[in-house]
Amino acid sequence: MKILFFGDVVGRSGRQALSRHVQDLKTSLNADVVVANGENSAGGLGINRKAVEEILNCGVDVITTGNHAFHWKEWKDVYENYPMVVFPANYPDMQDRSCYSVKGLTVINLQGRVFMDCIDNPFSSVKNVLRRLDKETIKLVDFHAEATSEKIAMGYFLDGRVDAVVGTHTHVQTADEKMLPNGTLYISDVGMTGPYDNSVLGMDKEAVIGKFLNNRPVRYELAKGRNIINGVFINISDSERSITRISFLEQGED
Ligand SMILES: [Fe+2]
Ligand SMILES: [Fe+2]
Repeated sequence: MKILFFGDVVGRSGRQALSRHVQDLKTSLNADVVVANGENSAGGLGINRKAVEEILNCGVDVITTGNHAFHWKEWKDVYENYPMVVFPANYPDMQDRSCYSVKGLTVINLQGRVFMDCIDNPFSSVKNVLRRLDKETIKLVDFHAEATSEKIAMGYFLDGRVDAVVGTHTHVQTADEKMLPNGTLYISDVGMTGPYDNSVLGMDKEAVIGKFLNNRPVRYELAKGRNIINGVFINISDSERSITRISFLEQGED
């Protein structure tokens, strides 16, 4: 089983970048399944039908989400009509919509609690999710969380119980990909797919600096310029288990 996973897709720029690269990467790496985190895919925050359709049309099979998924009221439309879009299992009433199986892979979505909303315990929630799943299927967890401590702890907690634990949410790719002692593949954060130049996590830097300088609400806009594509390629077979980072910048106009 070869899996391509792309970090948080940010806004239209991120969706367009994805559409320019997924098929080529899928072909060159011979990937069976493609997963992308879409919590920022509509306007930089949240998710809606248009964003989901565009991401699926790129060749993505499963879309994971996180804390920003509920920003627009259109999330409900996505929730009701797109079973391949999953939501963190530890949000109230989301357990039934927290995993999706396709082509022999089950993708599970979870969210952290450190420096984030006070939702249910992700460790006990994932135990409940796993209890309901077939032990034999290959399992990947997107742990959408802020703190590396919580992510690393989750990696060890699930080591040997799932095949891969990949972190999302910080939009910055970490260089700590590895195999844990019992065979689970792990990375603290996959990073993001979207605006890179003059960007703070995908948003125009001026607005974000203004927010930190003045402590007043600001309107964020997507940064302009080149996009970064951040992902991981995961290979799980009888003879090999590996996780490889993908990170490249698109070329600019000039
Ligand atoms: Fe995000
Ligand atoms: Fe997030």
